[in-house]
Amino acid sequence: AELKLWGGRFTGKTDPLMDLYNASLPYDQKMYNADLDNSKYYTEGLLKVGLLNQEELSEIHRGLEIIRGEWKSGSFVEKQGDEDIHTANERRLGEIIGRHIAGKVHTGRSRNDQVATDMRIYCREALESLSQILRDLIGAILQRAESELDVLMPGYTHLQRAQPIRWSHWLNLYASYFTEDFKRLQQIKERLNVSPLGSGALAGHPYGIDREYIAGKLGFNGCIGNSLQAVSDRDFVVEILFWCSLFMNHVSRFSEDLIIYSTAEFGFVKLSDAYSTGSSLMPQKKNPDSLELLRGKSGRVFGSLSGFMMSLKSIPSTYNKDMQEDKEPLFDALTTVEHSILIATGVISTLDINKEKMFNALTMDMLATDLADYLVRKGVPFRETHHISGEAVSKAEKLNLSGIDKLTVDQFKEIDERFSSDVADVFDFEVSVERRTAIGGTAKSAVLQQIENLKSQLV
Ligand code: ARG
Repeated sequence: AELKLWGGRFTGKTDPLMDLYNASLPYDQKMYNADLDNSKYYTEGLLKVGLLNQEELSEIHRGLEIIRGEWKSGSFVEKQGDEDIHTANERRLGEIIGRHIAGKVHTGRSRNDQVATDMRIYCREALESLSQILRDLIGAILQRAESELDVLMPGYTHLQRAQPIRWSHWLNLYASYFTEDFKRLQQIKERLNVSPLGSGALAGHPYGIDREYIAGKLGFNGCIGNSLQAVSDRDFVVEILFWCSLFMNHVSRFSEDLIIYSTAEFGFVKLSDAYSTGSSLMPQKKNPDSLELLRGKSGRVFGSLSGFMMSLKSIPSTYNKDMQEDKEPLFDALTTVEHSILIATGVISTLDINKEKMFNALTMDMLATDLADYLVRKGVPFRETHHISGEAVSKAEKLNLSGIDKLTVDQFKEIDERFSSDVADVFDFEVSVERRTAIGGTAKSAVLQQIENLKSQLV
């Protein structure tokens, strides 16, 4: 028991399996930087209230940097009794600078405010690096949207052909989702960036430490105003897990579309070899495994969110060991999302599109709404034109024509005498998409406006 930092009151040994069960070092060591910074600035706070002198502080800082170097180079030697990153670093500091000085570092601090602080620092940085690669993903999508502006394809509702759209319009859909994700990420980063440090185990700090000063040094925007909340709160973990889940939901729908578009039946897109795999049995197969994994891994991330919500829901106030269960789901979700962003970026930047197949999938019945709009422009109420256009569709079907565009002007006039020879102008897909100039529509001008608008939000 004397190997443990908290061993003073213990006489019996812990069960070895309990040691393993309890230990978080295998996964929380990735927070070593945050933990060392925590101690570095916390001790500056101790100096300010006279609990350390300048010499002691320098010695502590020297030791902390040696430990940082060891973690960085992979030479940190873990010892029995190192429960987590906090105890491991403190134990090692004692070995380097002597227990007399190292033993002062934790004055007034608890692992409860320490771990809450480390997590927030770690998360803040993880979200910053996700932001950067997410910006690249959106950039790759927008670049395609700009350069393939002329490509038309069917837009679907209920997975049934609905109306013609631009391929760029489809791309902008996902660029829009991901831009909202990007902005939401900045909001979460902002909200979590407040410091719990200086709250002690739960009741606050007995030496009047300057929490604002330490918070500022650690890059926080302020400190949490209630010590109980400071050590209790893991809502930021939940928010990040929710963010990851919602992002993966968008990635999953994006992938599902592309999986459908890449089937032989559609043939709109072809995945590059870099993001496909073959079959062990069928030599002809090229499977969209990257997209299927993007879709499949979303389930795993949703699981992390709901799993941690379950862990959190009935914990009594302040710190309880259940809260250590925040780390594995969080770290796993962050890694999964990071990899997913990189794979999605690779897929979308290297995808080949087949413009002809996309164009040939457009059918004249998809202009039935435009036919109704034609009569609206002649003053007929839409509900009436909808009916008239429907009749045209049914008449063309009855006459076994290949489409409504094959009806003669006379046949149109039989349906409604307000049709005239200019009805032929309706049957042009390009004209149809170009009519939709209002904000958010398919006209070139509107699509370009969306691209500019999204770009301006990525700052
Ligand atoms: N490894 C612990 C965690 O991640 C650190 C806090 C432990 N505090 C305690 N009082 N046991 O939550």
